[in-house]
Amino acid sequence: MNPPETQNRPLFEEKQSPRGLFTADCVDFMKSMPRGCVDLTITSPPYDSLRDYKGYQFNFHEIANGLYRITAEGGIVVWIVGDRINGGRSLTSFRQGLYFQKIGFSMHDTMIYQKKNTPFMRSNAYTNAFEFMFVLSKGSPKTFNPLKEKTVRHGFEMVVYNKGSDAVNRKNLKELKKEKTKTNIWSYAVGMGGTTSDRIAFQHPAVFPEKLAEDHILSWTNEGELVFDPMCGSGTSCKMALLNRREYIGVDISEDYIQLAKQRLRSCVRVA
Ligand SMILES: C[S@@+](CC[C@H](N)C(=O)[O-])C[C@H]1O[C@@H](n2cnc3c(N)ncnc32)[C@H](O)[C@@H]1O
Repeated sequence: MNPPETQNRPLFEEKQSPRGLFTADCVDFMKSMPRGCVDLTITSPPYDSLRDYKGYQFNFHEIANGLYRITAEGGIVVWIVGDRINGGRSLTSFRQGLYFQKIGFSMHDTMIYQKKNTPFMRSNAYTNAFEFMFVLSKGSPKTFNPLKEKTVRHGFEMVVYNKGSDAVNRKNLKELKKEKTKTNIWSYAVGMGGTTSDRIAFQHPAVFPEKLAEDHILSWTNEGELVFDPMCGSGTSCKMALLNRREYIGVDISEDYIQLAKQRLRSCVRVA
């Protein structure tokens, strides 16, 4: 089915700020973007037709190729994806990860987005409570601002430093830091108040948490850099880019979702 109201606008005209929300098929839209212009893409595709996004088509291979072309050297794509569970897992996510590698991306990390609530129950397997966040890089990542978390213990302590073949524990006085770099498993509450406090966002069926988008934006970009979401839905990544002083481009094939995203961004500017 073709989108009823697709509009392709020239984007990178001279002096035009590369920022905005656009109704388009992202494959077509990316063709209008210069090679290597995006510092960070953060997106969650419609996976395994788990939800019906008005029947729009999703061509993974063309999207992946387009993303490789527009990503800057050292830029990052965060691809947030789960698998259909119908008996067993579809493993679509793995196939997509391998394809990204095949076309030149490096699988920099396979991070986990853990949902603190709304776990998906199964009668014959453990409750599913996560999605993958594939962190793909074009070459070596040019930016990494590691997020920190508080440590349980800090201050000076006698710490075991060597358990040699004699099995004797030796101890040293060592300062334990107040904070450490976070692990690659990130947990978020989902639903109203967790995902977002924007009531209107839930007119979209698959919003991801604002904090998740923000954490990636802070990790992989600096102020003024360009964040792209080719399937932006309710506009979560664009909203968080805006609030963190990054440029943003959001694209969705549905005019309704783009209108929703625009409304959401307008109200966040008024509040901020
Ligand atoms: C999982 S949702 C994204 C939700 C978003 N992360 C949020 O927080 O609201 C996937 C989106 O992809 C859009 N989509 C599907 N095929 C598309 C295409 N070819 N081009 C652009 N958008 C597409 C759907 O309309 C849907 O809004």
